[in-house]
Amino acid sequence: MALAGDMAADLVVIGPEVSVEAGLADALAVAGIACFGPVAAAGRLESSKAFTKAFCDRHNLPTSAYGVFETAAEAKAGLNRFNPPYVIKADGLAAGKGVVIASDLATAEAAVDDAFGGRFGGAGARVVLEEFLEGEIGSLFALCDGKTAMLFGAAQDHKRAFDGEQGPNTGGMGTYSPAPVFTPTLVEQTRIRLAEPALAGIAAEGAPYRGVLFVELMATRDGPKLVEFNARFGDPECQVLMLRLKSDLVPYLLACATGTLDQRPPPEWHDAAAVCVVLAAQGYPDAPQTGTQIRGADQDFGEDVVVFHAGTRRDPDGILRASGGRVLNVCARGATFEEARQRAYAAVAQIDWPGGFHRTDIGWRALGR
Ligand code: GLY
Repeated sequence: MALAGDMAADLVVIGPEVSVEAGLADALAVAGIACFGPVAAAGRLESSKAFTKAFCDRHNLPTSAYGVFETAAEAKAGLNRFNPPYVIKADGLAAGKGVVIASDLATAEAAVDDAFGGRFGGAGARVVLEEFLEGEIGSLFALCDGKTAMLFGAAQDHKRAFDGEQGPNTGGMGTYSPAPVFTPTLVEQTRIRLAEPALAGIAAEGAPYRGVLFVELMATRDGPKLVEFNARFGDPECQVLMLRLKSDLVPYLLACATGTLDQRPPPEWHDAAAVCVVLAAQGYPDAPQTGTQIRGADQDFGEDVVVFHAGTRRDPDGILRASGGRVLNVCARGATFEEARQRAYAAVAQIDWPGGFHRTDIGWRALGR
């Protein structure tokens, strides 16, 4: 906030959801600085799952059946209202790790105890239980300026830590775009049933939404159902969208901040596919081992490969080390999905990091089509 004032910023783009929740956009509005990112009241669409579920009820957005619980005893009793697999979510922000999908009652009860026991800090003070949705998951993005929603690409993420959709939920282990799940019908249904009603609903509740609305949905037999909203570009969805985006991004962000999105043309995209493979530290998401040395991440992989650093640090002697859970995003573009995927995995193979792991099946649904 102070930095934005000191440098007389023309535009502030909020990345992390914690800054949305902390009210950075509210403070920037008071200071008269244009901001891409919602005010905290609008950001509750991400920062409280209980708020979002009730919001869906108020505005008729399709989503799964749910219950909100304030104590472990109530939540455990509430599990009886659902069939396995059980979906247990911490109400608040938990960096993508606050969701447990449990195949049996004992595991579900343990997840409830973990949440109320402080595993997610204050985020787990309330718990949301949800009906498990069958279908294919997808991430769709809409730029919003408070009144207009403009579709801004889509991708498919891989949430589970290990190949074959096994292991714990994570913030995302890899993405690709475009994703075949997003047929023109699904995109249109998502716009009409989820993105636009959300924007209208939150404005009607007195908190116009300016920023990007990330609609995470399940493509079910009955059409898209909301899994959750996020008040930011997804990670690692953003990486593949940026590799495909042909238009200059900044005018779109500024238009969201200034309420002029209706004056902009739809964005242009490269006629190309993009794939991102996340390299995570061993032990992620529960207990990532940081400090291990990474070799080969800085080499020139060619113009269609970009390696984003998400959780690295460099020692004074130049050695690169892991400093977080998800550490590197190895991204590639290609004329086809197969080409992009091959380039991404070829680059991964050139990075020497015994302290890390990655999924080898990113995009398996697209390969199988
Ligand atoms: N990849 C999902 C997220 O950013 O929340």
